Order: sequence, then C-alpha cells, then structure tokens
Amino acid sequence: MIGLKVPKNQADKVRRILLKHSLVDLQLKIKRSGDFVLIPLEQGPDLTRENPQKIEEIGVTSFEIIETEFEEQKRGPKSLKDYLKGKIDPKKIDEIKKSFDIMGDVVILEIPEDLQDEKYLIGEAALNFTKRRAVFSKKSEIKGVIRTRELEHLAGDESSETIHTEYSARFMLDVRKVYFSPRLATERERIVNQVKDGETIMDMFAGVGPFAISIARRHDVEIYAIDINPDAYYYLQKNIGLNKVQEKVSPILGDVKEILAERKINADRIIMNLPGTACEFLGTAVESLKPGGILHYYEFASDFERPVERIIKAAGHREVKILNKRKVKSRSPGVWHVGIDAVIL
Ligand SMILES: C[S@@+](CC[C@H](N)C(=O)[O-])C[C@H]1O[C@@H](n2cnc3c(N)ncnc32)[C@H](O)[C@@H]1O
Repeated sequence: MIGLKVPKNQADKVRRILLKHSLVDLQLKIKRSGDFVLIPLEQGPDLTRENPQKIEEIGVTSFEIIETEFEEQKRGPKSLKDYLKGKIDPKKIDEIKKSFDIMGDVVILEIPEDLQDEKYLIGEAALNFTKRRAVFSKKSEIKGVIRTRELEHLAGDESSETIHTEYSARFMLDVRKVYFSPRLATERERIVNQVKDGETIMDMFAGVGPFAISIARRHDVEIYAIDINPDAYYYLQKNIGLNKVQEKVSPILGDVKEILAERKINADRIIMNLPGTACEFLGTAVESLKPGGILHYYEFASDFERPVERIIKAAGHREVKILNKRKVKSRSPGVWHVGIDAVIL
C-alpha cells in the first residue's frame, strides 16, 4: 500500500486536495506517525512511489510517498451517513441527502455554506454511496430564460453529459447546458395518462423533450415540441431519435411567440412547463387551443387562486373548466410549483 506522508499541520488541506482529485483510498484508514499524517492513496499506473509527479501537479508541495500498511475501514459503509461518520454532523447529512438529484449517472447535490470546506469529501462519499460516475454541487439558483444553473464539479468524471431513464424513456442531456428535473417524473406520467390517440399537442417549453417524448412513446399523436435553447433543441432531436418517435414529434427551435406568429398550430392539448413566466404566454396558448382543448399550465405560486385567475383572464370570452389543481413540488418555503389542468371551451 502507498501513502502520502505530510506534516500534521497540512494534513487537512492536503486531504481535501487529494479528495478533489479522487486520489484517496477510502477503504483504508488515515493514520498518524509522530508529527506526520499518512493518507492512503489510490494506486494507479501514473501514481506510484517512484513517480510523485501527479501529486506535484495538483499543487501539493511538502510530501513524501511511502510504502506502508493501512488498516482497512471496519466495514463497508452502507449509507452516506456511514461514509461521513465522525466527519459531518448527521443532521446536516440528512439535509444534503434531501437535495440529491440523480440524472443518469450524474449526481447533483447542495452543500450548505458551513460545509463548503468539506465539499470534496462529501462529493467523494456521494460518488461511492450512489455508485454513479460524477458528482456536482449547485452553485446558483435555476435562472435565466433557458432555466439552467451553475454547477461545480466535486468528484468522479468531469463530463456533465448523461442519459437519464424515466419510465423506460431515455433522455440524453447535459446537466450544465439544459433544464431537466427528475422530480417531475410523476407529473409527466399524470399527463401521459390523460392523452388520447389522435390528438395534436404543443409542448411550448419542451426542453430536452421529457413531456413530448414520453407522450409520443405511448400514444398515436402529433406533437410540436418547441424550445428557445439551442442546446435543449440539440438534445431534443437526439432524444426523438433515441426513443424512435421521429414520426410523431416535430422539434422546433425558437421563441414560441415568434414561432406561432409565423405559423399557426391548432392544438387539442398544450403543455406550459415554464412556471416562472408561463403566465406571459397564456394569451398565445389560448389562441392556439381548439375549442374544448386542454391546457396544462404551471406556475410558482403559494395557492391556486392566482394561476386560475390568470387562465380565466387569458381565456377572455371563452368558458374555462378547471379539471385539476395540484402542488407538483415545493419550490421554497410556502411557494409551490403548481399545476392546473383546464379545458378552454
Ligand atoms: C422549466 S424548463 C422545462 C423543460 C421541459 N418541459 C422539462 O420538463 O424538462 C423551460 C424551458 O423553456 C424554454 N424556454 C424559455 N423561454 C422560452 C420561449 N420564449 N420559447 C420557447 N422556449 C422557451 C427554456 O429553454 C427551457 O428549456
């Protein structure tokens, strides 16, 4: 076994650097030797006792690579808490676990401000615990027109492209470049189950296509899937191919208002999953909806009153029948991503 011998006062900093580069053997225990700490290293063809270059490259200066025995960790950790036992407050670990989003082989999590110093340790533990390929942490809110967030790489592979499977549909996406939430899987399934064969459907804010493609896989329909983000459009096209729904889904790149100003789409059903600003598109949606067509409208709201009022206002002289109102998921304390299904007669 090889280990990195570092002065005691530098051990914590060095351990964090090594963790960031996935160089610590987490199955073995760190040990003390006089004024030094010995950190067990993951041995590889480019990291041996004779070849310390890799350690220098990552910015560790004062060290020695030595051959030594390390004690095995007592038993294989079974949970994130096991991995982080003694290092992180268990209550904080629960908080981190709740923030986990797993998309394909990529994990995205949130590290509280007071645990930033331990972010690489947490990342490495999450990598081992979830057995996924890469771990990233959230560095901003979801923002901007294309609804993406900044991410920081914590552990594993650096590529942020993955393939996520949802109810047997496969979605290729880059977590840095497009919006995708695995937490909407149940909501999408609700909508898929309401669709009838023969419908013409418009997904106004289609992203990489999870609503449109999930519907097309199960129904004989014609779907227009629109998105303004060129990266989302790129993956939308890929996913249409991956799921073999080329005959049913037409991908369109652009601002939905501009697209609909140029060409008319008469839809039986319109999906509006852009909860921050979908209200600005309600008028356009109503114009494209056939009499008796159904709107699936989403909004960030603390109750159902405001979204329902907005739909009624946009419908103008057309009668509105609310079919269903629900809290899809929590956005922040007291604010929900709400979903309203409405028939516009
Ligand atoms: C919240 S995401 C939803 C994506 C997808 N429906 C899903 O569930 O994963 C909203 C999407 O709307 C797109 N978008 C924002 N403004 C748009 C516009 N004016 N026209 C078309 N797409 C737009 C964004 O690029 C983003 O992909």
